[in-house]
Amino acid sequence: MTDKTILRALKGEVLPTPPVWMMRQAGRYLPEYRATRAKAGDFLSLCYNPELAAEVTLQPIRRYGFDAAILFADILLLPQALGADLWFVTGEGPRLSTITGAEGFAKLKTKDDIHETLNPVYETVSILSEELPKETTLIGFAGAPWTVATYMIAGRGTKDQGPAHALKAEDRETFVKIIDLLTVSTIEYLSKQVEAGAEVVKIFDSWAGSLKGQDFEDFAVEPARKIIAEMKARFPGLPVIAFPREAGEGYIGFHQKTGADCVALDNSITPEWGAEHVQVSGCVQGNLASSHMVTGGQALIDETRHVVKAFSKGPHIFNLGHGITPDADPENVALMVETIRNG
Ligand code: CP3
Repeated sequence: MTDKTILRALKGEVLPTPPVWMMRQAGRYLPEYRATRAKAGDFLSLCYNPELAAEVTLQPIRRYGFDAAILFADILLLPQALGADLWFVTGEGPRLSTITGAEGFAKLKTKDDIHETLNPVYETVSILSEELPKETTLIGFAGAPWTVATYMIAGRGTKDQGPAHALKAEDRETFVKIIDLLTVSTIEYLSKQVEAGAEVVKIFDSWAGSLKGQDFEDFAVEPARKIIAEMKARFPGLPVIAFPREAGEGYIGFHQKTGADCVALDNSITPEWGAEHVQVSGCVQGNLASSHMVTGGQALIDETRHVVKAFSKGPHIFNLGHGITPDADPENVALMVETIRNG
């Protein structure tokens, strides 16, 4: 029996105080993150520097005593390991070489080639599993195949994931090959993270909301189901968190369909709806709006209490509905954590 609070919630236990961590908790709103990033050079150099990546992962744990630390890396390191060019444009976001058809797909590497690039990430995980306080859970992660594919196909972030939807419609064979390659590669990537010491893994499907009907079943549910089934076969008892962001009705039954132990909820749904329709099936994570980390005040206190109360009858991990933004005030994060822990 473990006493780590996050692992207890993931097993379905209802705790008097929900454990808490935040998406993007190591990030630009923290002055110590900005200082370490400046030392590393750029964002990717930070991701591939195990000492510094471990350092930024630990910073929010020291400051706030969160119940979980999430490995510092990015979902786009996997396409890079598969042979895509990747760079970040300051103030704009990621850019990748695009894969628009069979020819581009043929240039990609295989699932067995990824570790050469990703070894520093596994090294970060091992450092963290040594250095984290014993009560803190270490979460590894990867992007979901659909979300990662949207970046590989468009070469950048897109509002409506148009290029990926277009490839799906016009060259389904190549599209499915990309999804399948990402599915098997994600299993290898996450397996190495677990072998290095990750205690939980999370699958980020940030653009799941743009998949509707059968597409949602085929490209959000099915890849998650395959990844989770294989991870649990390899690592019995490994808890998995799935985040099909903005899935709406697709959230209903997502635990059962995919085998996820916990489903993370975004801000497009109310905590009451999440409790009634999703928490009935298992642990949920979420879903305070990240804007409260910018604005603070009584509204932050009230809404934090509201989220805690709405999910208090079932297993719950407190989190934001999406990542904390660079303009957040670190004091507001402290106020959120204090409100959760002291009522
Ligand atoms: O949550 C964490 O703190 C762990 C580390 C983490 C990062 N990105 C670090 C990061 C995780 C889990 C991610 C996931 C990620 N990356 C997602 C899925 C979750 C989500 O936010 O929807 C996506 C879509 C990406 C791709 C990505 N990385 C984008 C679109 C951007 C640019 C937008 C932005 O916020 O700048 C990034 C950069 C990025 N990833 C930063 C961080 C801390 C900011 C980089 C910097 O220091 O400039």
